[in-house]
Amino acid sequence: MIHDILTINTSKKYNVTIGNDILKDTGTTLSDISKTGKAIIVCDSSVTDLYAQKIKYSLENKGFAVFIYAIKAEEKSKNFYETERLIRFLLSIGTTREDIIIALGGGICSDLAGFAASIYMRGIDYAIVPTTTLSAVDACIGGKTAINFDNIKNAVGSFHQPVSVIIDCECFKSLSNKQFSQGIAEAVKCGIIANETIIEMLKQGINADNCAPLVKKCLEVKKYFIEKDEYDNGIRTKLNLGHTVAHALEKLSKGKIPHGDAVSIGLNMTINAALSAGLCNKNFAERIKKILLQYSLPVKTDYSSEQIINQVFYDKKRTDGGILITLPKGLANTQTVKMTKEELYKLLSSACRD
Ligand SMILES: NC(=O)c1ccc[n+]([C@@H]2O[C@H](COP(=O)([O-])OP(=O)(O)OC[C@H]3O[C@@H](n4cnc5c(N)ncnc54)[C@H](O)[C@@H]3O)[C@@H](O)[C@H]2O)c1
Ligand SMILES: [Zn+2]
Repeated sequence: MIHDILTINTSKKYNVTIGNDILKDTGTTLSDISKTGKAIIVCDSSVTDLYAQKIKYSLENKGFAVFIYAIKAEEKSKNFYETERLIRFLLSIGTTREDIIIALGGGICSDLAGFAASIYMRGIDYAIVPTTTLSAVDACIGGKTAINFDNIKNAVGSFHQPVSVIIDCECFKSLSNKQFSQGIAEAVKCGIIANETIIEMLKQGINADNCAPLVKKCLEVKKYFIEKDEYDNGIRTKLNLGHTVAHALEKLSKGKIPHGDAVSIGLNMTINAALSAGLCNKNFAERIKKILLQYSLPVKTDYSSEQIINQVFYDKKRTDGGILITLPKGLANTQTVKMTKEELYKLLSSACRD
């Protein structure tokens, strides 16, 4: 059943279809927007048996010639070697610019498949079928594709909008609780930035059975920012709330702290910093922390503020004079400020003690 269709009006206009048990309609959805040539399903090997066959069958019914290409969904797969391997495969089956790639998996799969799609024959179409909550509420729209290089996350990439996004919430039923909560951290972020209803929905309790309306609300928040700032030169930076700390934690832990957990700690720490600077009130800070804890997300870390800030400025060494930080002032009320290392240190050291 389809719950909602959201249209993203970026340089390329595309629909996001959100529903339950809609993988079986993939062929219909994609044959409306794409020639029925080859369809290459680039899928996370751990979900191939669960979902790829259903999509394949549906596409074949509409006349697509379907190929399944599996990748291991590990951060280290986002590299040039895997991109080259995929491109060799596309060449070996005679993929042309008329054909379509379908990324079936989480953000690792869509970042890699999207990057390959953006450079193969100077760019071919790709669709995204997210199977993680994190991808569904965040990674699946916006068109950012990336691989890692020289130990730098997302060092190489492109902006390449998908032609369609199909979110079947049934896919989230095979996620562990831990994996499911990773997307919740991003949802909390969306709620803080722009939409109190999201925070209320989260308070009521979100699971794989009832998450479709929440997914839609979160994507509406991201849609607003990417339509205004498709190439991330300005207002889109608000979507990075909590992410300055989060990226530092992911780096310091060498990837052991997953993205959603890092965002959760980053949000709580940034809110505490805003609280000690007198920007927001205690009620707001406690309300958000309670939601994060409700989903067993971490809110603190053993890394010190020195370690976090040194990492932040090590990563951002190319930005002169400071970095942009988004601070919450309350629900749907944020402020983006430029801070020097000393200012950020002062702000975060009080938050780390909390
Ligand atoms: N392009 C963007 O805008 C954007 C935004 C956010 C994150 N990202 C990227 O996304 C990546 C993280 O992606 P992610 O958190 O979505 O997940 P992931 O792709 O890292 O997958 C997480 C784990 O869940 C497993 N998995 C996926 N779907 C499953 C399912 N339905 N059932 C059971 N297991 C399943 C995977 O095999 C993997 O072990 C990072 O590389 C990050 O940089 C990109
Ligand atoms: Zn994020």
